[in-house]
Amino acid sequence: MAAEAGGAAGKRRIMCVGLVCLDIISVVEAFPAEDSDVRCLSQRWQRGGNASNSCTVLALLGAPCAFMGSLAPGPAADFIAADFQRRGVDTAHVAWQPRGEVPCACCLVNASSGSRTIVLHDTNLPDVTARDFERVDLAQYKWIHFEARNAAEQSAMLERVERHNRAAAPGRRVRISVELEKPREELLPLMGRGHVVFISKDLARHFGYKSAPGPPRGRGGAPRPGRGGPGGGGGARGHSVCPRPTSRSPRATLICAWAEEGADAMGPNGELVHSDAFPPENVVDTLGAGDTFNAAVIFALAEGRTLQDALTFGCRIAGRKCGIHGFDGIV
Ligand code: ADP
Ligand code: FRU
Repeated sequence: MAAEAGGAAGKRRIMCVGLVCLDIISVVEAFPAEDSDVRCLSQRWQRGGNASNSCTVLALLGAPCAFMGSLAPGPAADFIAADFQRRGVDTAHVAWQPRGEVPCACCLVNASSGSRTIVLHDTNLPDVTARDFERVDLAQYKWIHFEARNAAEQSAMLERVERHNRAAAPGRRVRISVELEKPREELLPLMGRGHVVFISKDLARHFGYKSAPGPPRGRGGAPRPGRGGPGGGGGARGHSVCPRPTSRSPRATLICAWAEEGADAMGPNGELVHSDAFPPENVVDTLGAGDTFNAAVIFALAEGRTLQDALTFGCRIAGRKCGIHGFDGIV
């Protein structure tokens, strides 16, 4: 990645497109029973949303980054905007919507296990559109990460980046990553559009995969029978979750994180890569672990590190995150 190392190219940033919301987090000693009335250990507001959390992590890792998503004026947005600013995340491309509510999540974090239970209210705030995205000067970015949400508009945004890349010199192209979290039918075609595709364990399970396959063959262990990962060792239903290469993205890297089992990836030539997790002494807060992992992997790949290095780095930083409340202290 010599072209990225110096000159104007070295200053190009990473953008994350997707959700920002307000997380109202109650930290509890144990998960409460339904219809009980309990006290929590602590409570805080935190800027949340996958793309927004990934920006937090990129900023903490020292990568200049920008967030693109929707907000609507009001106290929640004031809190969120101030927090973006505190972290040094560029919000010039936030789409301020004249109507709709800022999404808000009530999150219970069980400090004894680190589990996070999220109830998200995300209904009426319009998402950013391809038209909003036209104002983005693509030359300023080396990587754009899309959290799959509004498929049709995001497809048009991707089209624009693909067009830019066809015309750009190799060192000026924008790398694209796409995160698919939910098994929503209309989002699946976006899988074929990223150079790097993050598939959540929920989606992988939906495709019939049960857990990480362990170290791939030839690295000291065969995939365990009946399991599978993205493309690894065949899934429970005997097919791959890998999007078949399309003419737009013929050599995608697929990545799937498996919580305490670490993460798996399949490189552009079909090579399988695995990293074990790096469990902290005590897992206290896994809220945003996946977003942390994605950001750390993107950070490492954007620096030109190998897929194995990036996966290991992602698991290391995400593991650290699980051992602390919030994000301060992950680096
Ligand atoms: P999310 O549910 O937030 O999407 P994942 O469960 O996919 O997050 O986990 C992302 C990464 O975070 C994993 O690959 C792993 O490296 C790390 N991680 C998550 N949970 C744990 C845990 N309990 N112990 C250690 N690492 C973890
Ligand atoms: C964590 C998170 C939270 C948010 C929720 C949205 O990954 O982004 O910050 O409340 O997921 O689904």
